[in-house]
Amino acid sequence: MNLIFVGTEIGPWSKTGGLGDVLGGLPPAMAANGHRVMTIAPRYDQYKDAWDTSVTVEAALEAPRVLNLNSNPYFSGPYGEDVVFIANDWHTALLPCYLKSMYQPFGLYKNAKVAFCIHNIAYQGRFAFADFSLLNLPNKFRSSFDFIDGHVKPVIGRKINWMKAGILESHMVLTVSPYYAEELVSGVDKGVELDTILRKTSVLGIVNGMDVQEWNPSADKYISFKYDASTVLSVKPLLKEALQAEVGLPVDASIPLIAFIGRLEEQKGSDILAEAIPEFIEENVQIVALGTGKKRMEKQLEQLETLYPDKARGVAKFNVPLAHMIIAGADYILVPSRFEPCGLIQLQAMRYGTVPIVASTGGLVDTVKEGFTGFQMGAFNVECEAVDPADVTALASNVKRALGVHGTPAFAEMIKNCMAQDLSWKRPAKKWENALLSLGVAGSEAGI
Ligand code: GLC
Repeated sequence: MNLIFVGTEIGPWSKTGGLGDVLGGLPPAMAANGHRVMTIAPRYDQYKDAWDTSVTVEAALEAPRVLNLNSNPYFSGPYGEDVVFIANDWHTALLPCYLKSMYQPFGLYKNAKVAFCIHNIAYQGRFAFADFSLLNLPNKFRSSFDFIDGHVKPVIGRKINWMKAGILESHMVLTVSPYYAEELVSGVDKGVELDTILRKTSVLGIVNGMDVQEWNPSADKYISFKYDASTVLSVKPLLKEALQAEVGLPVDASIPLIAFIGRLEEQKGSDILAEAIPEFIEENVQIVALGTGKKRMEKQLEQLETLYPDKARGVAKFNVPLAHMIIAGADYILVPSRFEPCGLIQLQAMRYGTVPIVASTGGLVDTVKEGFTGFQMGAFNVECEAVDPADVTALASNVKRALGVHGTPAFAEMIKNCMAQDLSWKRPAKKWENALLSLGVAGSEAGI
């Protein structure tokens, strides 16, 4: 297939979150399966030198070409008319509209299809109703954008909504995990006022892969001892001691260490963690939290050291080497997200034999298997999904349950189970391939 991925971030150049990781990881995996792949993203000023615009498309096709938006000549040529565009999140949601109004009427990309992938429905691109005229789209698209914003009171909320249009005008809608796909239409507003629209279409959930080169415990340049599944049990305690020393906690490998790494905003739930700590801090445990974001939450993280000098550290900095040391040295990664379309940190942790303790939401449900690779907050309750991620007591109980297993043969098994998984992009790429093939774009038969 001829595939063109479009997004606002692309790792390793521009990345504020998981979207950049996906745009950096999925396209090469599709190319490795023999598809012709192009990825389009803005060239932000600070990455000027990183972009190679001199390549020609005729050159080797084993890797996707990375081009900037000025490289129009590449749009014709070998990509021809039979293309599948993969638009990602609200920023690219206008793509199917422009395709239908500006290109296809003139015979360009006449057979092209658009798959729209939702990475996070919390960001939709809601703008003033009058702004529709700025989009230069024919009036017939108006109804696709039309939206009453229920979050604005009183109801003067007539807006346009880019993501709504993207969903309605694309040929296929995907998201980044099956459970999040279910949540989106569950009716408890996890679809953030787009659930009604989504219920009318089908949403396919495919769990993301991760970069298994960058995150590889046997070749990680940031950790002082490398390891794999056969050496993890003897090496991890050394890395824990190195981490304890680094952040200034008492150095003792026998103390279970729980880590949190994430953007500091409501979604990631660092505030829920901070509130839950008093409920489990009496246990034999240490906590290391790392992240940047909202000032209020950064303060909350930094206060941990004052509140629990022998037990907790919060580092409100962007620090890649420390992130690697934490993931390698911790026993557990805590993921207290209020919602999580897929989530990456739990995947990275599992690759390092660091056992996830997670809120039962979104991709965390699909990727962490209760009692096998981790601890689900919802596991206390038969109706797993009914446990509110913001329930501080439920979070603390889940932590205590996890700590209860620490150091036992069952825990060693879980570490091994985590590390035995193939978390690369290989399998997700196969699923994406099957999904996109179902759009029936010509050229598929050729293999590329
Ligand atoms: C968004 C979501 C996250 C997901 C990522 C990549 O950042 O919040 O859960 O992993 O997109 O799809």
